[in-house]
Amino acid sequence: MDRKEFLTLLGFSAIATTLPMCMGSCSSSASTPNMSVDFTLDLTQSAYAALNTNGGYIVKDGVIVAKTTAGNYVAVSAACTHEGANVNYNSGSDKFVCPRHGATFANSGTAVSGPANGNLQKFNTTLTGNSLRVYS
Ligand code: FES
Repeated sequence: MDRKEFLTLLGFSAIATTLPMCMGSCSSSASTPNMSVDFTLDLTQSAYAALNTNGGYIVKDGVIVAKTTAGNYVAVSAACTHEGANVNYNSGSDKFVCPRHGATFANSGTAVSGPANGNLQKFNTTLTGNSLRVYS
């Protein structure tokens, strides 16, 4: 085997070794498994007080619950579909924003700008008195 054959073989084996690892971890979109959710928040508790103010939000059990600037409750999966960082709710833009790389999502969970291109899972909300039920 001459030098050229050796380097060609070495390059091929480096690619063959690296490619499967990259395919598993270099993906630009984290998968968003469908979550089954059903919990009720008592809005009189201090832990959920943010939800009594338009623009406020909390994160519970992997779900971000926000009271929009229009006063509606919305709930979506908190993990960004890019690499899984928890998103925040930005009341100024009425969007969920990922602090890691800046992806934005409409308050319905629909991806608006990358690098994330998958939507956040949307959940139902029902307010009864001071009890806010969040469910799939
Ligand atoms: S983790 Fe990269 S944009 Fe959210």
